[in-house]
Amino acid sequence: MSTYILMKILESAPGRYDRGIRILTLGRLGKTYDSLVSHIKEGQRVLDIGCGTGALTLKAASKNATVMGIDVNPQMLEIVQKKVNELNLAQNIKLCEMGVAELGSEEFKSYDIVMSGLTFSELTEDELSYTLKEVKRILKPGGLLLIADEVIPEDILKRTINWLIRFPLVIITYLITQTTTNAVRDLPERIEEAGLIIESVRLNKLENFIELVARNPEEGAKSITTH
Ligand SMILES: C[S@@+](CC[C@H](N)C(=O)[O-])C[C@H]1O[C@@H](n2cnc3c(N)ncnc32)[C@H](O)[C@@H]1O
Repeated sequence: MSTYILMKILESAPGRYDRGIRILTLGRLGKTYDSLVSHIKEGQRVLDIGCGTGALTLKAASKNATVMGIDVNPQMLEIVQKKVNELNLAQNIKLCEMGVAELGSEEFKSYDIVMSGLTFSELTEDELSYTLKEVKRILKPGGLLLIADEVIPEDILKRTINWLIRFPLVIITYLITQTTTNAVRDLPERIEEAGLIIESVRLNKLENFIELVARNPEEGAKSITTH
C-alpha cells in the first residue's frame, strides 16, 4: 500500500503507532505477519530487525521461539517491553536498542530466522546492503529471512500510479517528520546477490508491497533461484 509512508508519522508518536498502523493497513498487516511467522518453529533463534512495538517479535515468541528484537527507537522498545511483561514472555524475548549498523556484533551462523517488517524501507542504500550482507553471515545454513515491506513496482504503469499516490504523502510526511521511507527497489535480486535463495515472493495488486521468504543455502549447496 502506498500509504505505508504515513507510518513515519506514527513512529513520531509511538503510543499511537499500533492503532494507527491497524487503521492505515485496514488490519491486513497482521495477516501478512501471521503468514510470515508460520515459517518459525518452536525453539528456533529469531532476530527481528526494527522490531518497533513488537508486532513480529510477539508473534514469534508466542510460537515458543527465542527472539531478539532490535530497534534504534527507545520509545518503541519501551512499548514492546511493557507488552512482553504483560504477556509473560520475558523468558522468550530479549530487546536491544541497536541499529542495523551494529549487526556486526552478532555471532556468525547464530540465527535460524531473521525477520523484518516495514524496516528495510527505512534504511539508507548503504545500510540495506550492509544489512543483507550481515543477514547472510548471521543466519545458520538453511536459515530463513522473512520480509514484509514497501517496494517499488517493476511494471512501469504500476510504478507511475504508485508514484502519483505516494508523492503527496511523501510531502505531507516530510513536512511533519522531516523524514521519509525509501520503498525498496529490486529487493529479491538484492537478496539473491547477498547469497540467499528466494523461496517465495508474494506481491499485492499494485506490486508495491512484498512478502518474501528467502533461505540461506545449506553448506556446499549452490544458490539456485526458484521464483
Ligand atoms: C515502521 S516501523 C515497523 C516496526 C515493526 N517491525 C512493525 O512492523 O510494526 C520501523 C521500525 O524500524 C526502526 N528502524 C529504523 N531504522 C533502523 C535502523 N537503522 N536499525 C534498526 N531499526 C531501525 C524504527 O525505529 C521503527 O521502529
